[in-house]
Amino acid sequence: MTATTTAPVLILLGPPGAGKGTQARMLEEDFGLIQLSTGDMLRAAVAAGSDAGRAAKAVMEAGGLVSDDIVTAILAERMAQPDTAKGVILDGYPRTDVQAESLGDILARMGRSVTAAISLEVDDDAMVGRIAGRYTCAACGEGYHDNFKQPSHAGVCDKCGGTAMKRRADDKAETVRDRLMAYHAQTAPLIAYYEGRGLLTRIDAMDDIAAVRTALAAIVHKATA
Ligand code: AP5
Repeated sequence: MTATTTAPVLILLGPPGAGKGTQARMLEEDFGLIQLSTGDMLRAAVAAGSDAGRAAKAVMEAGGLVSDDIVTAILAERMAQPDTAKGVILDGYPRTDVQAESLGDILARMGRSVTAAISLEVDDDAMVGRIAGRYTCAACGEGYHDNFKQPSHAGVCDKCGGTAMKRRADDKAETVRDRLMAYHAQTAPLIAYYEGRGLLTRIDAMDDIAAVRTALAAIVHKATA
């Protein structure tokens, strides 16, 4: 039985490359919240070769969405961990209306509810460039970009000092286009879903990373006051 908490549940909505992961990690630092990235969880499942990972691998590589049942089971298991009582930022979930309903059910069973949904608004054309230049530290997962966010010392992670960097298998231009199509067909309708419930705020995420961080911090302060 999980203790009831009033800690925030924040949802970051936005297409591939909008900056959900970048900003979620900053919200962890700024507010002590926990980032829950279903993309990271699925990549871990693929790497571990679990049943869920084997089912997800081909779908992810093709730029489609993994089945609602698989993703929701992974998310529900993670939400049940005690650290989520500090407050969470959902990065990449929900992504369909079915997932949005499931999230409501999971939270209701915990005596919790969605505090705010924040839509990172960007132009599709810019997203391909953002994703194509992206890489992460293999040790700690800190994200970088060839043009927009380089480590202070080339090839050395600012956060952990790691020197191995990696790029994602689904960050090829043709896969990115399919991921954007999946976003517009299945995930973008959630903007209206949360707007209709009075929970949505929009941010211009074409601004630079620091400006988006400031705008987001103001919203989180207000939502958690
Ligand atoms: P996931 O890992 O969630 O990928 P995504 O949604 O496609 O998002 P990305 O991680 O590509 O982008 P981001 O918005 O986090 O941007 P980032 O901060 O890295 O999902 C991967 C796959 O898993 C899906 O395709 C699907 O198959 C599956 N999946 C996951 N969740 C699922 C679900 N719920 N249901 C079904 N399937 C699911 O930024 C990108 C780059 O831009 C970085 O290099 C960063 O440094 C740079 N950058 C960030 N912000 C800015 C800025 N303001 N200006 C300039 N550069 C910036």
